[in-house]
Amino acid sequence: MIPVLESRTLRASPPLDYASLVHADRVHGSLYSLPQVFDDEMDAIFHKGWVYVGHESEIPKPGDYVSRRMGKQSMILTRGADQEIALLYDRCPHRGNKICPADHGSVQSFVCVYHGWAFKPNGEFLMMPAPEGFPEGCDKAALSMARAPRLESYGGFVFASLAPQGISLDRHLGRGKTMIDMLNGLSPEGRVRLDAGWMKHRLHGNWKGLVENHVDGYHPQIVHGSLLRANKPFAGVRDRKDTSASRVRDLGNGHAELDFAADFRQRNVMLGWTGGVSTERLPNYVDAMRQAYGEAEANRRLIDGPPHAAIFPNLLLAEMNIMFIEPLSEKETLQQTTAVMMEGGAELNPRTLRRCEGALGPAGFLISDDAEITDIVQQGVSNTLPEWLLLKRGMHDEVVEEGGTRAGGLKDETTQRAFWSHYKNVMA
Ligand code: FES
Ligand SMILES: [Fe+2]
Repeated sequence: MIPVLESRTLRASPPLDYASLVHADRVHGSLYSLPQVFDDEMDAIFHKGWVYVGHESEIPKPGDYVSRRMGKQSMILTRGADQEIALLYDRCPHRGNKICPADHGSVQSFVCVYHGWAFKPNGEFLMMPAPEGFPEGCDKAALSMARAPRLESYGGFVFASLAPQGISLDRHLGRGKTMIDMLNGLSPEGRVRLDAGWMKHRLHGNWKGLVENHVDGYHPQIVHGSLLRANKPFAGVRDRKDTSASRVRDLGNGHAELDFAADFRQRNVMLGWTGGVSTERLPNYVDAMRQAYGEAEANRRLIDGPPHAAIFPNLLLAEMNIMFIEPLSEKETLQQTTAVMMEGGAELNPRTLRRCEGALGPAGFLISDDAEITDIVQQGVSNTLPEWLLLKRGMHDEVVEEGGTRAGGLKDETTQRAFWSHYKNVMA
C-alpha cells in the first residue's frame, strides 16, 4: 500500500480553520498566498483526490510515457506491454534515483542511470547488474517501481488518486462527465486525440486563480478587450453584454461551466465556434458527423459546439483547446495547453491547431492577457487588506435548473462559488 504524503504531519504550525476562511459570498485573501495553505491543498486535493494526469492518446503504444506532476510528486504515465496504463512514482526502488528520462517518449524499459536497474514500462522489476550481490529469494515485487493505487479513464481522459480509498471517479466527475461527452461528441468517431504537442507556460500566480479565471465570464471584455476589438466575428458571438443568452453553471463537486451554446443557437449558425468557418469549407467533416449521428442531431452538435468548463481541480476544457495545470508553489503554476484533434476531423484539425497557436501559443493573444492578469492578481492578493475577496456577483438571481444545477448569467460568479464550495468541503 502506498502511503499518501502528509506534509501536515511534518509541520509544527497549527492547522488552519478552512471553514472560517471560505464563505458563500467571500473568501479570505490568505488562501492565495500562504505556503501552509499550499501544503494542505497538495495533501487534501492533489494527493488524496482525483486529479487529471493525461489522455490515453498521448501514450498510444506499449512503452510510451509522459512525465506528470501530481501535487508534490513526480509521476510517469506509461503504457505497458499488455496495453494497460499505469501511473508510476518517478523514483528508483533501489536508492531513490529519479528514473524518467524525458518529458515524453517511448522506451523498451526504464533504466536507472545510477546503478543500472531496469524496469518494464509498467514499472515491474526486470533486471539489475551483478545480481549475485543480493540475497537469494529477494522479493521481486519489492524491487518494482511504486504505482498510484487508483487510476481510471473517462472518455479517454485519465485521472488518478494517490489515496487507496475514496469516492469513485464516476462520483467525483458527476455532471462534469457531460462536458467530456460534449467534446467527444464533436468527433464523428466519438473520440479526440491530444497528440498535437503541449505548450508549457510557467505562470506567476496561485493555481486556484487560474481555475477561477478560466470560468470567469466577467473579465474578457476588459482583459481581452484588444483581441475582441481586433477580431470582429469573435466579438460578435461573445458580445458579453448582460443581455447575452450564455449561462454559467455550477456542475457540482467543484466543476463549472461557461455555456455559450445559447448564443450560437440564437444565431442558428453551424460552426460558429470555429471562428466562423462555413460548412462548405469542411464538407467531409460535416458529412461524417451527419452519417454518425443523423442530420438533426449532427446539426445540433455543430451549432452548440464544444464545452468551456473546469473539471476540479486541474483540467480545463477551453472549447477546442485543453489545458491542465500543475501547481508548483503558492505563487507559481505550470499550465500546459494543446489543441483538440478530432478523430475523423482531418479537415478541421489543421484549423484548430492554427487557432490554438494564435490564441494560446508563445505569442498568443489570449494567453499573454491571462498570464499578465494572473501575475497582477498574485501581486495584489499578497497584500493583506482588504482581507476578503468577493464572490457575490449574481448571487441574488441564480436559478436552479432541472437536475439541481445552479445557473446564472454569463458574468455571474456562480462558477467561482462552485469551485469554493467544493474546496471548502474538501479542505475543512
Ligand atoms: S538508484 Fe537506481 S539502480 Fe541504484
Ligand atoms: Fe481570459
